[in-house]
Amino acid sequence: MKFAKRLDNVSGSAIRAIFALLEQPGMISFAGGNPAPDCFPNDDVADIAHKLLHKNGSAVLQYGGTPGAAKLKDVVIDMAKQRGIAATPEQVIITSGSTQGIGLAAKSLINPGDVILAESPTFIGALQTFLTYEADVKGVKMDEHGMDIDALEAAIIAHNPKFVYTIPTFQNPTGRTMSIERRAKMVQVCEKHGVLILEDDPYCDLRYSGDPVPPIKSFDKTDNVIYLMSFSKIISPGLRVGAAIADPRVIAKYNVCKQGEDLHTSNLSQEIVTAYVNSGKLHKHIAKINAVYKAKRDAMLAKLKSFPDSIKYTVPDGGLFIWLDLPNGADAMPIFENAVERGVAFVPGTHFYPDGSGKSTMRLNFSMASLSQIDEGMDILKAVVQENM
Ligand SMILES: Cc1ncc(COP(=O)(O)O)c(C=O)c1O
Repeated sequence: MKFAKRLDNVSGSAIRAIFALLEQPGMISFAGGNPAPDCFPNDDVADIAHKLLHKNGSAVLQYGGTPGAAKLKDVVIDMAKQRGIAATPEQVIITSGSTQGIGLAAKSLINPGDVILAESPTFIGALQTFLTYEADVKGVKMDEHGMDIDALEAAIIAHNPKFVYTIPTFQNPTGRTMSIERRAKMVQVCEKHGVLILEDDPYCDLRYSGDPVPPIKSFDKTDNVIYLMSFSKIISPGLRVGAAIADPRVIAKYNVCKQGEDLHTSNLSQEIVTAYVNSGKLHKHIAKINAVYKAKRDAMLAKLKSFPDSIKYTVPDGGLFIWLDLPNGADAMPIFENAVERGVAFVPGTHFYPDGSGKSTMRLNFSMASLSQIDEGMDILKAVVQENM
């Protein structure tokens, strides 16, 4: 078969192979990034859907407008306001998850060969999307305070990128959060050089410790930041609802590009999210799931204390991931293979690096496994790590 040439460099097979392993019975998974199955508001969603379809079924089941439902845009604007972002309806588009917000940025902005800068490491889904549009993704180094802004400026000067993609809060894969100072400086630097920022913020409400940090977008006075929100981690990823907030000219391009993708985000999903948030139950629900995830994070961190001292790991204030770095550039691949043989899966960190480096790193997810699986799985992982070091 003759597929498009632009897909030649896009494989995704390594990660897909890992997810295939998770199907094996008894496998303890620290590999995925899914919300825990007991963290969905099933009954409330069922009630809302039932009422919606009985009262207003013909409208909900009809086609809708591409920009999204006005009532949901109001919800998004209100949530953004609470995060320090001022937006009007013309600056908002409802998307099918933040995945689509990333895809529409790629579709509307990338020409083949354009450079995109991103944290190194970064979210594998975004990496793949940018590669699909034939971008040249270059990593910018980061530390425990997020992307290094001096390195970013140097990369901007060297590569003249189309935009900078960043996940500043509880980053996937590292769990790190960019400091407030760096957020403000990033806005300044990117504005100075005329480079757009694509801020992906699906985890900010999943905070278990520390104080909230305002989004990069809240420092942006010139509409130079495209801000992506998602309801996946706080309500349900299966509903596929997110939003982008940006300059109306960007939103107009997003609209055109979205028309050819899915025409609009599912009306039923949009109505469910709107009704659920407007019922006032979201805050309580977030508090409930945060308590569940905090206990799991703490359980995994407690186990990591007994790992060899030379292993560095992040202590995230929220999100779903802990990031490990083995000493002396040790290879995480044999550890991965041995761990899987003994029934524990994680993702080797190299997959998250735009240049394929990071061989000594590992991403551990703590949301999907139960507390007892974390206990058992981390003991197995510790034994495998010790044997391989
Ligand atoms: C950084 C990041 N962005 C976007 C997504 C996709 O989220 P959504 O379900 O909103 O499409 C994920 C999901 O894991 C993610 O980690």
